[in-house]
Amino acid sequence: MLSWEELEQSCQSCSRCELCKTRTNVVFGVGNRTADILFVGEGPGEQEDLKGEPFVGPAGKLLDDMLSIIDLDRSICYIGNIVKCRPPRNRDPQEEEQEACIGYLQKQIQLIQPKIIVCLGRIAALKLIRPDYRITREHGQWMEKDGIWMTATYHPSALLRDVNKRPEAFEDLLSIREMMRKLKCNM
Ligand code: URA
Repeated sequence: MLSWEELEQSCQSCSRCELCKTRTNVVFGVGNRTADILFVGEGPGEQEDLKGEPFVGPAGKLLDDMLSIIDLDRSICYIGNIVKCRPPRNRDPQEEEQEACIGYLQKQIQLIQPKIIVCLGRIAALKLIRPDYRITREHGQWMEKDGIWMTATYHPSALLRDVNKRPEAFEDLLSIREMMRKLKCNM
């Protein structure tokens, strides 16, 4: 198995898809590399691309607020993305881009060995939970996959666009907190 350093190095120099041509920085991931809980977004936006860190723009500010609701912060969890380079104009990452990149996240998961993975939004849930996942209908539900408890909630950007979704996201957060307690996660 690759070490963190080897994995990050190969990711930093990756040219497996076209996104490498327009990126400023690879956004590898951030947080605690022994975390019990991993949050996965879809891909970097403009601020993330400029800084090389996930969720540092407006959606990131809301993610930090969401984490603090359940007494978490970036030092306790790990935060990554399905694709590590920004899709131009923040479009959804294409299937080929996701396929080219997913190996990095899979190796991060092997290294972290989280007890819980929370998909932030539809794209992450489609890739990590089920290819026909319905975020509106299924967010907040849990399933166990390869010994890891998986759930999804709305992407913070969706919660910025539509505040009516926030009460449901709040319920999802409480459910995540409860699952962390049940699984005796570090928190
Ligand atoms: N949106 C994402 O999905 N990921 C980020 O890192 C930032 C915004």
